[in-house]
Amino acid sequence: MSKILDIHDLCKTYVTDDQSNNVLRNLNFSMEEGEFVSIMGPSGSGKSTLLYTISGMDDMTSGTVVFDGEDISKLGRKQLSKLRLEKMGFIFQQMYMMKKLSILDNIILPGYQAKKRARSEVNEYAEKLMRRLGIIETADRYMTEVSGGQLQRACLCRALINSPKMLYADEPTGALNQKASAEVMNELVKANREGTSVLMVTHSERVASSSERVIYIVDGDIQGELVLGKMKAPDELAVRERKLKNWLDELDW
Ligand SMILES: Nc1ncnc2c1ncn2[C@@H]1O[C@H](COP(=O)(O)OP(=O)(O)OP(=O)(O)O)[C@@H](O)[C@H]1O
Ligand SMILES: [Mg+2]
Repeated sequence: MSKILDIHDLCKTYVTDDQSNNVLRNLNFSMEEGEFVSIMGPSGSGKSTLLYTISGMDDMTSGTVVFDGEDISKLGRKQLSKLRLEKMGFIFQQMYMMKKLSILDNIILPGYQAKKRARSEVNEYAEKLMRRLGIIETADRYMTEVSGGQLQRACLCRALINSPKMLYADEPTGALNQKASAEVMNELVKANREGTSVLMVTHSERVASSSERVIYIVDGDIQGELVLGKMKAPDELAVRERKLKNWLDELDW
């Protein structure tokens, strides 16, 4: 196996007015290709900041982040955008789509931009993903005409359209009820089985129990790590969740 992500001494400091806030403090962490890892931790501990800096959407203050063999701090803006478009998918905490495009067009757009597949194939794949996630009926609607749960699932379709090597997901089920949340998780597990590595931030023990490793962050530093292993069947979920709950209790979650 090879590493998809290798992070060394990552620091991120936000400076506002004359105050500086060390949000990530010498973080070290790596992921093998095909892994599914969750990040948990209190609000404000730096989880979203971690996803933004390692995906190159925000600058790091110091340290190195090697993604798929490339040191992203050495890449220019254009190269970074290309890398993100072709190899990474994102689901953000704050969901957003282009308001003037339909849901389907929003999903298709990065597929056309990446030029990895013919346009007809992109269209077909977009519809397939939308069917799988039960939102095909929203194809011609706009962002403001769908529910929060539908929008979240549409964002997942968009994130998967280029079959990314890595999917970064920031609370992908945050706005969803249990049923919709389970559907999104099924899809993440499926994408992971098909080879996409997944790094997901979540506050939910149930959601994190689908992943194979859970990292706990407090004040921008890793406090502990629990290895759950790959989930083989959905009926393991309850046992995994209990194990995770016990571990989090010990960490004063
Ligand atoms: N653009 C910014 N400028 C200044 N400070 C910021 C900025 N973004 C985040 N912060 C601060 O960095 C810290 C970590 O924020 P972050 O959003 O990473 O937390 P989080 O772990 O994702 O929290 P939550 O669980 O609530 O989403 C917080 O103290 C936050 O106020
Ligand atoms: Mg966050």
